[in-house]
Amino acid sequence: MRLDKFISKATELSRKESKRILHAGEVTVNDKVIKDPGVHVDILNDDVIWGGEPLSVAAGNRYILLHKPEGFECTLKVKEYPIVTELIAVPESGSLRIAGRLDVDTTGALIISDDGKWLHRVTSPKHEHAKIYELTLADPMDSDAQTNAVQEVADGILLEGDHEETKPAILEFIDDTHARLTLEQGKYHQVKRMMGYFGNRVTELHRASIGHITLEGLEKGDSRFLTKEEVAQF
Ligand code: URA
Repeated sequence: MRLDKFISKATELSRKESKRILHAGEVTVNDKVIKDPGVHVDILNDDVIWGGEPLSVAAGNRYILLHKPEGFECTLKVKEYPIVTELIAVPESGSLRIAGRLDVDTTGALIISDDGKWLHRVTSPKHEHAKIYELTLADPMDSDAQTNAVQEVADGILLEGDHEETKPAILEFIDDTHARLTLEQGKYHQVKRMMGYFGNRVTELHRASIGHITLEGLEKGDSRFLTKEEVAQF
């Protein structure tokens, strides 16, 4: 990782401020003063010291849960809508990444972090963290159609354009237009495409939980840091 990036991840300093302390000769890497912000540091093995304090990026990682409202994009580049990181008041929000994006019109649990390896553990189907979606359908489904859909989703279905069936999932109907879908994978627009497979359309979609993380106590648009225990459970 570039030294200026390392410093800004490990401290509250911006990239610009990190460059300033480097140019001022305040930082040593393995006991040598380094002024070049482009120098590469090995985040596990190099000793980076500023003001007598060792810096480490692990301590600087942020793990955030956001209750995403509709009308926000899960992207890092500004597009048509405001982006979700605008809702999170933390410095260096540009280094944050999202685990399992939600569509602009989808609400619910969004996990955001700057720890890439950990994010991979949250999203990888290999780790089988269930995500629960609550959905509203455009067209009511009668009990035969519901039974059929529940079975097909449990077996796995082949979505248009895919080469592999979806992993077995749990579909539970609450009534003829409301259902809960539990998935352990996150294909592009998966929920909407799965309901499209049954000739239906999702009109409202909400992610209620990711693994053991729920939105309990978190209003739409609010965020909180995950606890150490919550981070460790992934
Ligand atoms: N599946 C979708 O279709 N949309 C989402 O936002 C999330 C899962």
